[in-house]
Amino acid sequence: MTSVGAPGGNFDLKEEIRSYWSDRSETFDLSAGHRIAPGAEARAWADEIRERLGARPLRVLELACGTGEITGVLHGLGHDVTALDFSEAMLARARAKHAGKPRLRFVLADAENTMEPDGAFDAVVCRHLVWTLTDPAAAFADWRRVLKPGGTLLIFDGDWATPTPGGWIAKAIVGVLDRWLGDDATHHAGMPARHDAIMQRLPFGEGLRPEQLLPMLRDIGFVDVAAWSPSRIASARRRGATIRDTLRSLVYRRFGASARTIPRPNTAIIPDPAESV
Ligand SMILES: C[S@@+](CC[C@H](N)C(=O)[O-])C[C@H]1O[C@@H](n2cnc3c(N)ncnc32)[C@H](O)[C@@H]1O
Repeated sequence: MTSVGAPGGNFDLKEEIRSYWSDRSETFDLSAGHRIAPGAEARAWADEIRERLGARPLRVLELACGTGEITGVLHGLGHDVTALDFSEAMLARARAKHAGKPRLRFVLADAENTMEPDGAFDAVVCRHLVWTLTDPAAAFADWRRVLKPGGTLLIFDGDWATPTPGGWIAKAIVGVLDRWLGDDATHHAGMPARHDAIMQRLPFGEGLRPEQLLPMLRDIGFVDVAAWSPSRIASARRRGATIRDTLRSLVYRRFGASARTIPRPNTAIIPDPAESV
């Protein structure tokens, strides 16, 4: 399926992004790094998210849920999940994957302007969304608005523009293997060109790095802003992977980032010890 959003059409950038992902929806779950394999990789994701959000069931807004892979992890941890995406094709796959589950609501909406009520969620979670935002500052302000005081923003993303120093070598070897064995990637024809044309016009088109992201989150008013390497997920993903998928997993730098909204001031009245004398 190819929709009308090819570069050069009269779509605006966001429509082009939506059209691109709708067309990718068919094969999205075939790629390692998108699909979360049951077993070690699924456990690693669950452990990572449990460690960051805590074990207590929360009201979670998942942004850009795609085919619902992270949705499944969040739901499996017992959270009450609202999963949002602006691609109907992606949402249709997520809905089908999780049909009949309680505590799960799917919403067709723009993650940069969610229209969800103020202070409605304990946590906002997204994987592989931030790099493709067209107005990151507006999006972050909206995510802060929908979080309760003391709520957590949890981001999983990467720099998809510039390979790491060792990543250049991994990328070159994948290229050689592709030429030698045939390309095993799951892109439709023309997809890499559309991806690149979109990338050139994005605010993070030259790559998303924690060094840029963390100050932006602080400027919006988030506190406890931090980034880390989700290495346990990467090593679990590599267990049992093909050589090419292992090499692909080494090309770009992936990271996790978290931040909190300012907690509600403690309103409990603490007796003044002097008064009780
Ligand atoms: C790389 S996929 C990631 C999907 C999912 N988060 C995952 O990690 O499996 C990017 C997703 O972001 C969605 N997306 C991109 N920009 C969006 C926006 N402004 N609002 C809502 N969804 C958006 C796309 O439709 C697509 O489903």
